[in-house]
Amino acid sequence: MKLVFATHNQNKFKEVAVLMPKNIELLSLNSIGCRTEIPETGATLQENARIKADFVTQKYQLNCFADDTGLLVEGLDGRPGVYSARYAGEHKSAIDNMQKVLTELQGAENRKAYFETVIALNINGEQFMFSGRVDGKIIENPRGEKGFGYDPIFIPEGYDKTFAELSLETKNKISHRGQAIQHLIQFLKKNS
Ligand code: IMP
Repeated sequence: MKLVFATHNQNKFKEVAVLMPKNIELLSLNSIGCRTEIPETGATLQENARIKADFVTQKYQLNCFADDTGLLVEGLDGRPGVYSARYAGEHKSAIDNMQKVLTELQGAENRKAYFETVIALNINGEQFMFSGRVDGKIIENPRGEKGFGYDPIFIPEGYDKTFAELSLETKNKISHRGQAIQHLIQFLKKNS
């Protein structure tokens, strides 16, 4: 069965492709000729994941899944949330985004936060949603060189290292995206 992963991020695509059941031919947006940057205009992660998956299914008549992720900080009423990629502006700088979170959290007692990933899957005319979440806290000064985005300021519960200090293998095992992808894969194994 052909299944599109609606992402332009080649690293994400490769990571997920190796985990897919053998009967699934995973297609990238490039490989189906879709060069559009699908607009993420939803007010929630769920809406954005749906918008992206529906765009591909409607335009190309293909089964498809799409993901959307956000960092939700308790002390900031859930921000940056759906705006995580462009929290400090459309230039989408990870350093500026982290700095904005740290500045807004200055002096805050509650530094609890979590990452959430939502996946929308369109398969044979039906839509299914999957999610994954990892709880943790925001530290005061960035640490670590690995990973991307907000990884240097996030320590997952039960660890004393940031996501940017942990190996990619450990991060994938416990991460929001890792969990959501595992739920998707279990579903595809049973239903495709
Ligand atoms: P996306 O939906 O996967 O593109 O993620 C949106 C934004 O959330 C990214 O641009 C990053 O700022 C942030 N983000 C997503 N996943 C992670 C992660 O695993 N670590 C740190 N930041 C992340």
